[in-house]
Amino acid sequence: LGLAVSAAQAQTYPQRPITMIVPFAAGGPTDVIARIVGDHMSRTLGQQIVIENVAGAGGTTGITRAAQSQPDGYTIMMGHMGTHGAAPALYPSLKYDPTKDFAPIGLAAGTPIIIVAKKDFPAKDLKGFVDYMKANGEKVNMAHAGVGSVSHMTGIFFSSVIKTKPTMVTYRGTGPALNDLMANSVDYMTDQIVNVAPQIQGGTIKAFAIATPERSPALPNLPTTKEAGLDGFEVSAWNAVFAPKGTSPEIVKKLNDALVKALDDENTKKRLLDLGGVIPTGAERTPAALQKLVESEVARWTPVLKAAGATAE
Ligand code: MLT
Repeated sequence: LGLAVSAAQAQTYPQRPITMIVPFAAGGPTDVIARIVGDHMSRTLGQQIVIENVAGAGGTTGITRAAQSQPDGYTIMMGHMGTHGAAPALYPSLKYDPTKDFAPIGLAAGTPIIIVAKKDFPAKDLKGFVDYMKANGEKVNMAHAGVGSVSHMTGIFFSSVIKTKPTMVTYRGTGPALNDLMANSVDYMTDQIVNVAPQIQGGTIKAFAIATPERSPALPNLPTTKEAGLDGFEVSAWNAVFAPKGTSPEIVKKLNDALVKALDDENTKKRLLDLGGVIPTGAERTPAALQKLVESEVARWTPVLKAAGATAE
């Protein structure tokens, strides 16, 4: 497997701006995390990290493009629990294998899932929401960012727990989906906290519960699903940086080093924590830890999603 760059090129990397592909529309959680960590990474690397939003097919369009790019360190990507965990179960002809076709760089942020609804939704708490969902089934519209996205897979999981079947409305990211939620033109979604925390704090959308064992410091008044009376729906997503397979170990190390420095930077940490993001611990930040996470997530989610019959094709 010939490396794409010589030892000398790896030594002097990076010599020009680096593209980070975000496989969803601008303004969504993956985009926000990419811009926050990318901003500090570019300082360490001494080259601009340019975000390129390539949306479609639940994030698999952008990840496929990134996976097939030159492994020279100048195209990297922000993937997540959907693109690198759910996708194989949902896309039988997926053009990449999350466990084989990447050089993992490192985990960027954990993102607890929150059940959010439009302000006008006729329920004042999670119990009322679930009762309404059971009574109205497909008359209720659930927003998501494409089959295999985090909002889609966690939405499927939620529906299987409360035994309902909403009508699913696809967006190019949960940034655009949130706009429709705020406009009262879609009913609810299960989304990553970093996208919806400001709107919940501002009262422009409703939040029923956070799907984690403990409350989030960013939303101390938001009950957990368990506190709100719902067992069996606990899920957090994660976003992580990957490079294409065959990227030289030296370049992987430089990128990982820049990511780790970003996660240790007080201002960068604060920006992620203020949005309810969870900062990976030291042990969670290595390329090897990310490889293990991807392998375990593909194994974990495949049976859950196949049981829900959620395939995209
Ligand atoms: C986004 O950035 O829009 C989200 O990651 C989409 C999703 O996975 O739900």
